[in-house]
Amino acid sequence: MSSEVIIETRNLTKVYRDFWGRPKVQALKALDLQVHRGEIFGLLGPNGSGKTTTIKLLLGLLFPTEGEARIFNEPTSNVSKNERIGYLPEETYLYKFLNAEETLQFYGRLFKMPASERNKRVGQLIDMVGLTAAKHRQLREYSKGMQRRIGLAQALINNPELILLDEPTSGLDPIGTAEIKELIRELREQGKTVVLSGHLLADMQDICDRIAILHRGELKELGKVTDLLTVQDVTQIKARNLAPEALQEIRELIARHGGEQITIDHPTTTLEELFLRIVRESELHPGRRKVAATAAPTAAELAEAAAKSS
Ligand SMILES: Nc1ncnc2c1ncn2[C@@H]1O[C@H](COP(=O)(O)OP(=O)(O)O)[C@@H](O)[C@H]1O
Ligand SMILES: [Mg+2]
Repeated sequence: MSSEVIIETRNLTKVYRDFWGRPKVQALKALDLQVHRGEIFGLLGPNGSGKTTTIKLLLGLLFPTEGEARIFNEPTSNVSKNERIGYLPEETYLYKFLNAEETLQFYGRLFKMPASERNKRVGQLIDMVGLTAAKHRQLREYSKGMQRRIGLAQALINNPELILLDEPTSGLDPIGTAEIKELIRELREQGKTVVLSGHLLADMQDICDRIAILHRGELKELGKVTDLLTVQDVTQIKARNLAPEALQEIRELIARHGGEQITIDHPTTTLEELFLRIVRESELHPGRRKVAATAAPTAAELAEAAAKSS
């Protein structure tokens, strides 16, 4: 993994206009972001916060009102980059009368993959997303979870370097969510860069290396999940097998009292709490944005995160 920048946005802004061309909704306000190769990057925010707009701007499906986005150091309007990108849209759009195998074959042909490579890839992907037993069933019979999984397989057909997943776990039960998260971790192990969006805090917390929190089109927080959740001004002292009367004492005393596994560190809040605080502050101070970019994780930190999650 490297410090190579895969996605960069500068002042990226989108105003949707109405039929008469009058500005209607400011969906994204002056977003500055960098995503590095090998990262799993989360866009977190409630409905309407600008996640889908951001992803579509990155793909070049929407044109920015102001600012710019670059992918692989090229403008997003350059369509040749799309061969290196996989995309799972928010809404499923696959033909419901095709089965899983036919669906992937179809997209493989769109990418002009030779038949032998295509057949191999289709088999691998169906296996990877766990649809082998259902591969001859039409997609209209698929559950929500199976539809997300075939969508993910479709997004991966061209073996992309960068994968954009818009709400990959929306509507899934905890088991379906865990399976999708496991697949995303596999992608990280393969060295892919993944940007995913979601509104469920718990789903993003244990999978993303960094998270951007959006609210009403504004970037409110950006950073490594552990940093965002660490309460810096509080120190907690943990000890096991410690007599209750010794609790007030300092570290040396704990040791003297026979405590085991002493740790002194910073407790973390949950993403849920952080998020609610940000939303409350945002409502109190509309327009206040997070501007300074947080440093990207180093290769060593990403490797550590990958090791931890495997
Ligand atoms: N095509 C559109 N025309 C007008 N407004 C839109 C359009 N698409 C999205 N919006 C508005 O832009 C804002 C951001 O939407 P979106 O990017 O879809 O948010 P999210 O994906 O976080 O739910 C919302 O207020 C939404 O209503
Ligand atoms: Mg959306």
